[in-house]
Amino acid sequence: MSKRDFLSLLDFNPEELGHIVGRAKEMRAMHERNELYQPLKGKTGALILQLSSTRTRVAFEAGFAQLGGQVIFLSPGDTQIGRGEPISDFARVLSEMVDIIMIRTPAQHDIEVLAEGASVPVINAMSSVLHPCQLLADIQTFEELRGPITGKTVAFLGDGYNMCHSYINAARQWDFKLRIACPDGHQPNSEIFASCANAERVIDPREAVAGADLVVTDVWSSMGHEGEADQRRATFGPYQVTEQLLDLAAKDVLFMHCLPAHRGEEVTETLLDDPRSAVWREAGNRLHSQKALIEFLLLNPKA
Ligand code: CP
Repeated sequence: MSKRDFLSLLDFNPEELGHIVGRAKEMRAMHERNELYQPLKGKTGALILQLSSTRTRVAFEAGFAQLGGQVIFLSPGDTQIGRGEPISDFARVLSEMVDIIMIRTPAQHDIEVLAEGASVPVINAMSSVLHPCQLLADIQTFEELRGPITGKTVAFLGDGYNMCHSYINAARQWDFKLRIACPDGHQPNSEIFASCANAERVIDPREAVAGADLVVTDVWSSMGHEGEADQRRATFGPYQVTEQLLDLAAKDVLFMHCLPAHRGEEVTETLLDDPRSAVWREAGNRLHSQKALIEFLLLNPKA
C-alpha cells in the first residue's frame, strides 16, 4: 500500500474522517484517564514551521511524545530550504530519516511538492489556502458536545481565507449546511466555494447566524496580512461575533475560533468565556485529533 498524505480534508473519504474523529475522542478519554498508549516507540517525525504556531506545534510535539515517538522541530532558519535546496530534494532526504513530515508554510503548492517527493506521509499543518488539522479538532469538539454534525447548520463569519476554505471542505465531507458571511473583496476562493453544494454566501451576518448550531470566525488579519490590519478593522467591523449576534442562533449554539483571537476585533472582549464558547476545548482537541491523525497515517493498515 502506498503512503497517504493529509494535505486537505478531501484527501480522506468521509468514513476515514469519521474514524479519525472517533479515535480522537477515544484519545481524549485515554489522556483524561492517564492511560499510557505508546505505539510509536522508535518512530520519528519532522515538524517544519515556516510561520508562527502555538497550538499546532505543541499538539504535534506533545502528541508524538505521548504516543512514544519523537519529533524534530525545524524552524525556517534551520533548514537548507531557505538557502535554495529544492523542496523535492529536501523531501527525499527527510524520507530517508523520519517516518512522517508535518509542515506549515504559506504556499499550498510547496506542501504538494513536498508530499510528491516524500515517500513518507506528509501533513499540512496550515497553508494560506487550507488548515485541515484545525477542522479535525473542530468537528471532534462539536460532536463531543452536541452529537453528529451531519445535517446541522454552521455559520462562518469574517475572512474567506484558509479556515473558511477548510469549513467548505468539511461541509462537503460531513454533509452539513454552511452559511458564509464575508465582506466584499474577502470572499472565499470561488473554485473551492463552487465545489460544495452545501455552502451558501449571505450578505448579512445576522442571516448567516440565524438558527445556526455552530458559529465560527477567525482573525481578520491572518499571518501575512498584518500590514493591512487598520484597513481590515474597518472593513470587517460589521462581522464581529458578539453575544447579541449569538442570541439569534439556535438555543444550544456553540461558538468556535481556531485561536489566537483578537479580543475587541473579530470577537467581543468577553465572548471567548461566554458559556456558548467551546474554544478552550477546541484548542485542547488539537492534541487528540492530531494524535489520531498520526496514528491513522502511520499505523492503520487501511490508510
Ligand atoms: N489554530 C492554530 O493553528 O494555532 P497556532 O497558529 O497557534 O498553531
